[in-house]
Formats: sequence, C-alpha cells, structure tokens
Amino acid sequence: MSLPAITGHGVFTPEASISNDELVAAFNAYADRWNAAHTAEIEAGDIEPLSHSSSEFILSASGIEHRHVMDKAGILDPDRMYPRLRPRPDDAPGIMAEMALDACGKALRMAGRDGRDVDLVICAASNHERAYPAIAIEIQQLLGAQGFAFDMNVACSSATFGIQAAADMIRAGSVRRALVVNPEICSGHLEWRDRDCHFIFGDVCTAVLLEPGDEADASRWDIRSTRCSTQFSNNIRNNNGFLRRAHDQMEDRRDMQFMQNGRKVFKEVLPMVSAHILEHMADEGWQASDLKRVWLHQANKTMNDFIGKKVLGRVPETGQQPNILQDYANTSSAGSIIAFSKHSEDMTAGDRGVICSFGAGYSVGSVLVERA
Ligand code: COA
Repeated sequence: MSLPAITGHGVFTPEASISNDELVAAFNAYADRWNAAHTAEIEAGDIEPLSHSSSEFILSASGIEHRHVMDKAGILDPDRMYPRLRPRPDDAPGIMAEMALDACGKALRMAGRDGRDVDLVICAASNHERAYPAIAIEIQQLLGAQGFAFDMNVACSSATFGIQAAADMIRAGSVRRALVVNPEICSGHLEWRDRDCHFIFGDVCTAVLLEPGDEADASRWDIRSTRCSTQFSNNIRNNNGFLRRAHDQMEDRRDMQFMQNGRKVFKEVLPMVSAHILEHMADEGWQASDLKRVWLHQANKTMNDFIGKKVLGRVPETGQQPNILQDYANTSSAGSIIAFSKHSEDMTAGDRGVICSFGAGYSVGSVLVERA
C-alpha cells in the first residue's frame, strides 16, 4: 500500500481586497438608503430600521481585517451589494476553473510535475457555479490531466474531505497523482446586506497535489492519517437549490444566501472539533507535544484560540497555530490550506502537524502530516 504525501500546494489570491472600513462605509450607505426608502413603515412601527455596522465590532468579534474578492465594485455599490462577475460562454473556461488553474499550476510547479502527471482532480468547494458538467472535469481538461475528475461539496470541510478521498485512492492504488482544488467564491453566496454576517467571507482558491511519497521528486509532507466526521445541523444553511423553480420560489429570498446562527455554531462546533482532533491523534498514538503546528479552518480568531488551547493543552506558542483570517476572512474550505501553504515551509524532517477544517453540515476533517 502506498503512503500518500502532499508534494505541492498553491494559493490563488484575487487582487482586489476590501478593508473593514470600506465594507462598513458601503453597508452603512446601503442601510441609510433602505431606511429612507422605508420611512413610513419604520415610523408606523411596522418594520425595524437597519442599524449601522462597525469596523470595531467586526475586528473584535471575528479578528478579520480584510477580505480578497473577485469583484470589489459590485459589493461596495450601495445600490447593488453583491459582486458583478462577467458571464462566460459555454466554450470559455468558467471562473472557478480559471481560479483553479492558477492554484493547481503553483502546486504542480512546487512538486516538479505537470498536468499530464495527474490522474485525479477533485474540485472540493462549498458552492459550484453549475451543477454539471463537473467543474473538476473542466479543470482536468484545461490541465491536460489523465484519468478522471469529480466535484464534491462538504462546505467548509471540503478540502480535508477531498484530501481523505484522494489519499484513500492513492493508498488503494486506483490513482497515482491527485489534485484537490478548492475554488471558493464566497462573495457570490454571502448576504452583503445583512450586518450580522456581511464581514465573514472572502474569495480565494487553494490546491494540493497528492502522490505516493516514495515517488516524490521534491520535498514532501507524508499523510500519516486522515479522519472525517459529520453531524446534521441547520445552523449554517443555504437553501439555493435546483428545486427553487419547482417550489415556485424564484424570488430573491434571504435564505437563498448564506445563513447562520453564529452563537450556536460557536457553542456546538468548538467541542466537536476539539474532541475530533484529540481522538484522531490519540488513535494514532500522537501526543500534543508532537505537534509543531496546527493549521485550522479560518472562521473566527476566538474560535481558533480556543481549539488550539484545547488540542495543545496550553496556549499555542507564537506561530504554532497560524491565522490568516485577518487578511483573507473566512474562505470556507480553503482557509486551513492557506494557513498550511503559507506557514509550513520552515518546518524540517520529522516535524508533525494537523490540518483541520470544520463548518456546515456540521462537518470536521483532520489530516495528520509529517515532514519527510
Ligand atoms: N456591527 C455592529 N454590531 C453588530 C454587527 C456589526 N456588523 N453584527 C452584529 N452586531 C451586534 C448584534 O446585533 C448584537 O447586538 P445585541 O447584543 O444588541 O443583540 C451584538 O452585536 C452581538 O452579535 P452576535 O451575533 O451575538 O455576535 P457574536 O459575538 O456571536 O459574533 C460571529 C458573531 C458571526 C463573528 C460569531 O458568532 C462567529 O464567528 N460564530 C461562528 C462562525 C462560524 O464559524 N461559522 C462557520 C461558517 S463556515
């Protein structure tokens, strides 16, 4: 049985970035216009006015300072409040495939491979721009990859679930080299007109290349073990499904975008994630003291501080549990991979770490890696 390894990783970061102050200014202008347009109903007590958002709240509640986005102008236009993305004809690469090509190219170059060396592409993300043909098959074709490709969606845990699927196939011998790619256009399904969540998400794409460790040409991360777990919850939900027409629900309803009960998510997901990582490590005979680094899903700084402390049994040392959410916000499945990609190259042979993503479902995935 082959021992799978991560031999390349890459991050595509959209050029445009929005600061909290820019975001809040747009939201507050939108709220003022909305309140002015609804003065009569507000004065009659029929509806509540919209309250202003604040940069101070965003930073203290989440730790987020900026987010990268595929389109800034549409999001910051108080008369629009969502991105404006160029529609593409069927014979041109889709936007997710384009983001994926950049991230996959970086992962392949790091590993000294090219597209023809790959025989599996998994496009694992929290939303796909169309139902079919699979985005992954389009990426496969654009890369000149062999074999097969498919899409999967486990929301914020998609990357680690994709890594487990690819690692299992490499272990079983059904594929040799796999790209797991996570193009996340969260700006498309975030409700920018809701101050409770308008600051949460950003856009990005990450990719990792997996292959049998003993075939690697470059330095590698051996995947010692993977584990996935799910438990149903409605506390993070998006109802924008293909049955909208059949349900006679084509209007722009609030629940067609990201919705969450943030406080409940906080309370319920924290113990689930900490217990998942600790059990996974215990079953593999790993101690907290073995962990040089913890690369967590990037949703909330307080949440990560809590999980890091629980897993390590003490406050993490500086740099031991790196956060990138201050610059990227929550990028759904890509967050833990950005943290891994940007904060792992200094590690040396024998160093161990855990990549863990978690979120809607609920879902948790952990990957125990060791630098070879
Ligand atoms: N600006 C100013 N005030 C705001 C605000 C904003 N943008 N958004 C909310 N508030 C207000 C609320 O109205 C509330 O006021 P009240 O106390 O008068 O009712 C107060 O601030 C606290 O709001 P709350 O939503 O309870 O804040 P919170 O501390 O729970 O932080 C989250 C919100 C979303 C940052 C936090 O719950 C979280 O990160 N949860 C987990 C998220 C997560 O992991 N999701 C996974 C998605 S993949």
